[in-house]
Amino acid sequence: MKRIGILTAGGDTPAINATIHGAVVRADQCRVEVFGFIKGFSSLFNPRVPHVRLNPLFSTIPELDPAYGGTIIGASRDYVNANDKEAIAEIAGRLDALKVEGLICVGGDGTLNGMQALSDHLPTVLAPKTIDNDLGLNYRHEPDEWHRQPNEKGSGYHYVRHPERARFDQDQMVNYVTPGYATAVFVSAGGVQRIRTTAESHRRIAIIEVMGRHSGYLALGAAYGQPDIILLPEHTLNTERLIERVIEVYELQKNVVIVCAEGIVDEKGRDLGAETNSTDPAGNKVLTGAAEAIRQILIERLGDGYFTSKRRNESARAAIFTRKVGHTQRGGRPILFDRFYGAQLGGHAVDLLLEGHVNAVSILNWDRERGFHLATTNANDFRDRWGIIHARQMHPSFYDPEGLRISPAGVEYLTPIFKNAVGQDDMESLRKELFNSGNLSRPYHSVSVDVNKRICFLPNGEESSNP
Ligand code: F6P
Repeated sequence: MKRIGILTAGGDTPAINATIHGAVVRADQCRVEVFGFIKGFSSLFNPRVPHVRLNPLFSTIPELDPAYGGTIIGASRDYVNANDKEAIAEIAGRLDALKVEGLICVGGDGTLNGMQALSDHLPTVLAPKTIDNDLGLNYRHEPDEWHRQPNEKGSGYHYVRHPERARFDQDQMVNYVTPGYATAVFVSAGGVQRIRTTAESHRRIAIIEVMGRHSGYLALGAAYGQPDIILLPEHTLNTERLIERVIEVYELQKNVVIVCAEGIVDEKGRDLGAETNSTDPAGNKVLTGAAEAIRQILIERLGDGYFTSKRRNESARAAIFTRKVGHTQRGGRPILFDRFYGAQLGGHAVDLLLEGHVNAVSILNWDRERGFHLATTNANDFRDRWGIIHARQMHPSFYDPEGLRISPAGVEYLTPIFKNAVGQDDMESLRKELFNSGNLSRPYHSVSVDVNKRICFLPNGEESSNP
């Protein structure tokens, strides 16, 4: 192969540039050109295919900094529909015209679906990324546990999980962790610690909402910030236990910190956080109000009297507050773990393309004997028997539903990821970069300005040079 393409799709993570960098450095070594497609699959839908040459003359462009969050080539949630044969044929024609012989997609489960649709036309490899840590399997045959049932109203199906058939063993997880997750946990655990001291000072109950859709890995990782209570989507909300525990903790220390995942569900399995029925372009439900829903429950159940009788606060509304860690989880500088393994997975993806893999996934496994190591799997291994890729949910054994906290198995899961996740240089960059006096006098210079100057197009089926 002389030329490959790379695109980044879905939500960004702090580790994407590191993954692209790993891929480009490996391509430089192998004398392979890399075109970076602008804004994920949307570039391929555009007849002019906006793209950037990431390694002209086999030297990596300076804008590609592995320690810089986000993705310099942009991301979008545009989605390739496998049934849209016409669009797929057009995309294949455009890639052909650009002489792109293989494609790396950096993404999660949605991206893998899009990529598979193209894999009949050229070799494709996915390099994983998602802060949600939901691209992977808890064990090899997990997709076989999905069953589909016709919807009661209207057409279509919904998918339900049958009980686990395998005995869970951490060593058997497929894609133990995805780049982006560690930095997102670093940010949210830090956020939990910061909220604690203000809750402590004002005798308040804080509910901190973290991302992660229907997977509780991010909320689980926030356990490093020592919240009193964690609520996850994998275990339906037990309101009585929640109230009991809030009172127990508040009586003892006069403040409570609750971490709640945005995708938590009530006893009937309804999303507590889905205020509307809206979905993003990839069809994912938009989740907006889980923490607020928990706050309303606590306000109703505890009532003003609980706080005023002991002069701890003037009302339940004043005492109970919510904060979202939000997009700060997804942005900014990646910590060492993400930079290192993001780059490794990107480089490995190039090797897989050059070895002729089609529809493969470059993954990061872990076992007790070898620790973290690169591995390869086929995208079909993630599909159920109807071809659907389900987002991985956190293994339920990582949580203690009675104590509403992380379980010993959860601690065992997180330890290998986080014991050396932060590097010396992460600390050094904090010391040097934030209070650099130049920040006060210089306006922010966006990398997009420089990358824009490098964008090339495909006019009339011919490859253009830089504008
Ligand atoms: O998939 C990553 C993620 O950050 C989820 O955790 C979250 O629900 C979603 O993206 C938010 O998406 P957006 O920022 O595109 O609205």
